[in-house]
Amino acid sequence: MRRPLIAGNWKMNLDRTTGTALALDVVAGCAGRAGVDVVLCPPFVYLEAVGSTLRGSAIGLGAQDLYHEASGAFTGEVSAAMLLDVGCQWVIIGHSERRQLLGETNGSVLAKVRAALAAERNGHTLTPIVCVGETLAERETGRTQEVIRSQFAESLAELSEGEFARVVLAYEPVWAIGTGRVATPDQAGEVHADLRKQVADRYNAAVASEARILYGGSVKPENAGQLFAQPNIDGALVGGASLKAADFLGIIAATA
Ligand code: 13P
Repeated sequence: MRRPLIAGNWKMNLDRTTGTALALDVVAGCAGRAGVDVVLCPPFVYLEAVGSTLRGSAIGLGAQDLYHEASGAFTGEVSAAMLLDVGCQWVIIGHSERRQLLGETNGSVLAKVRAALAAERNGHTLTPIVCVGETLAERETGRTQEVIRSQFAESLAELSEGEFARVVLAYEPVWAIGTGRVATPDQAGEVHADLRKQVADRYNAAVASEARILYGGSVKPENAGQLFAQPNIDGALVGGASLKAADFLGIIAATA
């Protein structure tokens, strides 16, 4: 049985004061709620402050990216070990904004996933949340399945079964991100089902049935329940609606 997961990707938003206040509200709003994993992914510079706010709660701390090298002369970059050092348990990898605006490729995503999986500190490890998704032009030209399959093949399928079992997938259609234009439950469900089939074909049915596949793209409290009713949608990676406690908590509540 797959446990639902709701991750808030704050992107480059909020500041120390508003971020820690939001984290506090999420902690309070989730008190006593079982049966769902909740993760907050603030910008790197606020990881420690938000992590302190989350300490003692069941809410996880995630970063929005990492660099694949362990250490060295890589100005501006942050390693997996550093994320563990500041208390992260999760890391988003291959978000479409990084693929589109910051030169991320399937190859760099794979290197980052490997680095995240290899890191270990005092018994703690990182869980990568790996994003895939097609652009509007790709969907409109009927290439959705082909694009998602090649992203899966090139950024994930080289992992061993044991490595893959530690990964969470996120399907985020680029045309639905920040646009208010959410994929219909059927559109999302179709891609999620095909992704799970890719996992079953590459690994096996047991790994596929355990794999958590999140949907992302204009998820709101109003549409979350319908999305989560799809058999292959195991939660959400939330952008804009994760910046308001009431909206984010409403999405979390929709998993019940
Ligand atoms: P929105 O929820 O703002 O559409 O963003 C989705 C997303 O990119 C989460 O990673």
